[in-house]
Amino acid sequence: MQNARGQFSSKLGFLMAAAGSAVGLGNIWGFPTQVATHGGGAFLLVYLVLAFALAYPALMAELIIGRHTRANVVTALSSLSENKYASKAGMLVGIFGVITASFILSFYAIVAGWMLAEFIVPMTQLLQTTDAENWIGSSSISRNITVCVIFSLCNAIIISQGVEKGIEAWSTRLMPILIFILICMIVYVLNQPGAWRGVTVYLVPNVADIFKPDLLLSALGQAFFSLSLGVGTMLIYGSYLRDEDNLPRMGAAVTLLDTGFAFIAGLLIIPAIYVAEHQGINTLNDNGELIAGPELIFQVLPNLFNSMGASGNIFALAFFALMTIAALTSSISMLEVPVSAAVEHWNISRKKATFTIASIILGISICIIWQFETTFNLIISLTTVYAEPLIGVALCLFAGWAFNRHQLLSELSRGHPDIEKSLFWKVWPFYVKWFCPVLILLAFVQSLR
Ligand code: PHE
Repeated sequence: MQNARGQFSSKLGFLMAAAGSAVGLGNIWGFPTQVATHGGGAFLLVYLVLAFALAYPALMAELIIGRHTRANVVTALSSLSENKYASKAGMLVGIFGVITASFILSFYAIVAGWMLAEFIVPMTQLLQTTDAENWIGSSSISRNITVCVIFSLCNAIIISQGVEKGIEAWSTRLMPILIFILICMIVYVLNQPGAWRGVTVYLVPNVADIFKPDLLLSALGQAFFSLSLGVGTMLIYGSYLRDEDNLPRMGAAVTLLDTGFAFIAGLLIIPAIYVAEHQGINTLNDNGELIAGPELIFQVLPNLFNSMGASGNIFALAFFALMTIAALTSSISMLEVPVSAAVEHWNISRKKATFTIASIILGISICIIWQFETTFNLIISLTTVYAEPLIGVALCLFAGWAFNRHQLLSELSRGHPDIEKSLFWKVWPFYVKWFCPVLILLAFVQSLR
């Protein structure tokens, strides 16, 4: 079985793929938006603490289960324990994970399609084709469906090529481009008048904001979504890791890359808002708060690009290329969750599984576009606010309780023979058994009130 499964060919391949999954719209859009709505530096500080104290241990739970079982999320969770009930529960959690990943992809592909459309807008401007420009710049249903279909097709083509030639090869190609575009844009924005006020707001925390409950909660949710936790994505990527790779170190590197990306994306977006303000563009909403959410990406920033003259077009092109690439490397990891489960469960070809599942998910996306007002926000909150943390808790519980200490130690010692002496081994098993589930559940219960 192991030979039939794919495997990442190198540490770098895994890192690019896992960081590619983690770094997405959640980092470049979600994180700066949360910073803008939750008082700047205070959110940044709490987010960083939670990412390392809670999300990292949960990420390790997924990676360990994945590499130990070398299977998709459903098979992995149902095979962890010999107890009949635990095995049934594992299967249910796994199926729930597959469904959640598919629904997250269904709305994510719509937003990714918008990014793709915005990427095409400056090109139509350069080509001076007014009709095409009007259509692609509109928010019509036909435009939204077309761009969503194109995006979903790219996603499916990559996943149909398998782990090494698809996921690894494309992540390794796209991630450096992403970093390059992001850094060029930051250098440019920081040299514009008004930018440094944004940097101050971003980096200097207001201590009074730090302990606000809704800030804590949003930071926790953001950390989980951003690290792609709670749907089995990291579990399946962990299952493609080689035995000789050091799991705690790999997990730490992915967490660092993901938070690093979020941090530097904030360094682009928050100063950009202040540059826009300096240019006289409206950056506040009716309540006098900074504009966040879709208006920030689709109004404030495009207005800023327009005010930049000719270079604005290139800037808009680069920015929306950045967003589309980030969305693509995350979407492939979401699609891999149901595809790997179908391939391994029904023993069907990867191509067939990929295109069938991608078509079903695309069908759901089209229904959401059709009934946008009633379904879009509902699906986002059902999947990210409710399902992800709950499955996250279940995954921590499985890693903490279904393994005995000896199994855990032998899994972790591969690729890290001295693990017994490390701080990780002293802290993590207790942490994932008690601390993570209790804290995530507390945060979850809070969010329901
Ligand atoms: N981590 C991705 C982001 O930040 C989103 C994601 C969630 C990817 C769940 C895979 C699984 O945008």
